[in-house]
Amino acid sequence: MCGIIAYSGHRPVVPILLDGLKRLEYRGYDSAGVAYAHKGSLAVVKQAGKMHQLEEMLEGRQNGATSGIGHTRWATHGLPNRNNAHPHTDNGKGLALVHNGIIENHQTLKTWLEDRGHRFTSETDTEVLSHLISQGCLQKKEKFEALAWALDQVEGSYAIAVIFQDEPGVIWAARQSSPLLMGLGEGEMFLSSDIPAFLSATRDVVYLDDGELVRMEPGGWQVFDSGSRNPKAKEVSRIDWDIRAAEKGGYPHFMLKEIFEQPGVIQDCLKGRIDQDKAQVLLPEVEGLPVPERLRIVACGTSYHAGLWAKHLFEHWSDIDVEVDIASEFRYRKLRFRPNDMTLAITQSGETADTLAGLRMARESQVPVLGLCNVVGSSVARESDRVLYTQAGPEISVASTKAMCSQMTSLLLLALYWGRRRGTTDESLERTVVTHLRALPGVLEASLPGMQRTAQDLVQRYRESRHFFYLGRGLNASLALEGALKLKEISYIHAEGYAAGEMKHGPIALIDPAFPTFVVAPADDLAPKTLSNIKEVLARKGEVILLSSPSLKFFGTYRWDIPELVWPLSSFAVLPALQLFAYEMAVELGTDVDQPRNLAKSVTVE
Ligand code: AGP
Repeated sequence: MCGIIAYSGHRPVVPILLDGLKRLEYRGYDSAGVAYAHKGSLAVVKQAGKMHQLEEMLEGRQNGATSGIGHTRWATHGLPNRNNAHPHTDNGKGLALVHNGIIENHQTLKTWLEDRGHRFTSETDTEVLSHLISQGCLQKKEKFEALAWALDQVEGSYAIAVIFQDEPGVIWAARQSSPLLMGLGEGEMFLSSDIPAFLSATRDVVYLDDGELVRMEPGGWQVFDSGSRNPKAKEVSRIDWDIRAAEKGGYPHFMLKEIFEQPGVIQDCLKGRIDQDKAQVLLPEVEGLPVPERLRIVACGTSYHAGLWAKHLFEHWSDIDVEVDIASEFRYRKLRFRPNDMTLAITQSGETADTLAGLRMARESQVPVLGLCNVVGSSVARESDRVLYTQAGPEISVASTKAMCSQMTSLLLLALYWGRRRGTTDESLERTVVTHLRALPGVLEASLPGMQRTAQDLVQRYRESRHFFYLGRGLNASLALEGALKLKEISYIHAEGYAAGEMKHGPIALIDPAFPTFVVAPADDLAPKTLSNIKEVLARKGEVILLSSPSLKFFGTYRWDIPELVWPLSSFAVLPALQLFAYEMAVELGTDVDQPRNLAKSVTVE
């Protein structure tokens, strides 16, 4: 996600903005910039790249400015370059603005504004806000009214900070679905997306809520309800975290924070991709791209498991032949591509060497490549014919969690979208799945704390175990593989993921009381088939941890029920359960959860 900092007070603003932005670097970014009021005009200094490059540009430009805004950008629309970096201004440079979020109707607004003479200089959705507020100032007397009117036109999420050339010292801000909070100093005011940016100056904060508009200056602040325009009283909170805890939002590890971010990730992934009235999928990124007859999915690790999972959806809904390959194998196969083939490269980082090599091999054979990435402007994104961004925000922990959730969400949308294009899914199925998908974040939000408690209880029972089986059928087999990968990569315990039906072909020889088995079997058509596998394990004195859902009257040594959801949405509850078990085991064993031994976040070598 992007990072915002704003300051108004009695001290030079540039060093404060730079310090605040550096404290937000951990969130991940690809460009940065600042704007400040100086001698009756607005100075805007911004740059693609890292903070040290911005600092070099600002060297020697220390000046009397004591109020301004700053931003680190995590690109969602438009490549990471100087033009697309924030702050953005209107044509007359009467205002400068920074933004965190996604403006879903930015294209419609841009056209409307261009028809009224506004000229755009970037590819971002954010720049629309600058011109919209400027248009508001033309139509309204008061800045407050101009801002409120402009934000009334917007669909999507935003946290913004705005300064006006004719109002030095005053900072306006607004929040809708993206975090924003004020820091209350002694005769100085701060605003940021996250606490670490100003924690060194004050621990007194005011959290802003959706639909609120703020006017602040050194001597004070006022929050308004942007709908009713009425002033609102706000509570001041005291932060007692240290800086490291603040970077993790109060969570002990980035991995746990990112597991709990998954409901929000699903929401962000759906933004601009659902026709709210028809409950239909919209995927402008792949419009005009022919629907393939055969799809070759190429990926590594967790992304590979997301591909295995999605294979079932493409087969069920889109009636497409699907092959899923581990990229390091795919790149050395002697493949024959056919007309109407397509290659889908799934990668969080967009820089995994094996996946990139697989993509290049497909392109050499003139096969269209669709990239599914989380990092805008990454190598895979740039080299794909089309790219679908998972919009999960930066994933800091080496163990991939929310990225897989966003990949599964994106792939589910793609399977429904292609199914409608091929006429292989009917409207009612799409409407049903989309309706439940929109409710899914709320279900997960409510379930995660209980899941964490169950995981902690299970870890106390199995903390001595040095081996685990993870079994599942159908798309649950891919989740079994993912559960095993999570456990082994962060707790260093040996874990095998297997198709449940495969146990009798050899692996069952390993079963004994010291080798517990996780069976992933939420209610679905294949669950009854998994019953025999549970019996096989129990009959050999193996213990079974059954991850299931209430309607299945199964048994095992330990039963863990997750919310019962329509196929395939149960997978979105299975995934965090498996992630939390691995996380709690790693915490119990004292391993380095966010930076496990021998691992890198992005494997950019063969
Ligand atoms: C997952 O927890 C691992 N960190 C690893 O398997 C990862 O999924 C794999 O390296 C692929 O990375 P990518 O999605 O960035 O291509």
